[in-house]
Amino acid sequence: MSTLFHLPLAPASATRDERAQPRAVRLSLTDRCDLACLYCRPNRHDGYLERRLDLDAWATMAAGLVRAGVRRVRLTGGEPLLHRDVVQVIERLAALPLEDLALTTNATRLAKLARPLRDAGLRRITVSLDTLDAERFARLTRGGDLDTVLAGIDAACAAGFDEVKLNAVVLRGENDEELPELLRYAWDRGIVPRFLEVMLIGEGATMRDRVVPAAEMRARLAEWLVDETPVREQDRGPARYVRARHDARLKVGFISGTSDTYCKGCDRLRVSSDGTLRPCLATNDGLSAEDAARAGDEIRIDTLVHEAWKMKPDGETFRGCTEESAASVSIRAIGG
Ligand code: 5AD
Repeated sequence: MSTLFHLPLAPASATRDERAQPRAVRLSLTDRCDLACLYCRPNRHDGYLERRLDLDAWATMAAGLVRAGVRRVRLTGGEPLLHRDVVQVIERLAALPLEDLALTTNATRLAKLARPLRDAGLRRITVSLDTLDAERFARLTRGGDLDTVLAGIDAACAAGFDEVKLNAVVLRGENDEELPELLRYAWDRGIVPRFLEVMLIGEGATMRDRVVPAAEMRARLAEWLVDETPVREQDRGPARYVRARHDARLKVGFISGTSDTYCKGCDRLRVSSDGTLRPCLATNDGLSAEDAARAGDEIRIDTLVHEAWKMKPDGETFRGCTEESAASVSIRAIGG
């Protein structure tokens, strides 16, 4: 880790092709999850990867990624809070020269972990929550307990993160009537709600008839929103945001992975829990950096990142999760 002091400075010019190197990375700390959402997994016994990087290997991986130009890191899963060393991983990442450090969680373990994560240097947190109805929550997650998750969200709000967001995957005939309630729940707590079209990835590929287009979600919320075109935010992923009509500090995001894919300009790389570098969510292409990570070889990781990035599909023509290749991807294993 100390070798970071010898890092060359990134060029200040912004004219370079942004896709020439990855800027944002999602680290899937573990592919294990204690829930089994209908659009993500076929059942609770769908098999886990055998190997997982440990704390030191993740620290090397992250240092190599920073060498390769990465400036924003998000921890995902599976469920990242199931990783025994998640707080220490955050601590190690927080010591790197990053512009952003965030985590996405199902919040089942957040009540206890929110404060330690914040203290370790986590800046922003996103909680996945599709419904405020306990029965529906149990059905959608195959057995999850809503109250545990709500307590986790309360703890996140109390921990003082720079931002707390809520991700709700919208399914027709399931939670699509709940959008106003979810919006109010989030806004009442200073949380940024985001509504996602179900992506046709892995298990999601069986849900083509449940997709609610982002334009329709937006129309359903029209009375609470300003009458403006949703806009993307710099370095903040594919969501498009609209402000609340009654309070310009509040906003809601829409993620249209299915009706309108957004591969152009994608600067994201993913790393799965076994140390595989994955340049695209919607293909199974990847390059293993496991050995380099376990050997403490940051420089080799830098090289491998550039190799893996060459496998990234062309953003002009590739259609993301609507491509056929997406159906064979396990979103749980590569972290969404
Ligand atoms: N479509 C859209 N979002 C999905 N997620 C998982 N599977 C899908 C899918 N098929 C979301 C989760 C979580 C994030 C990590 O990915 O709800 O918010």
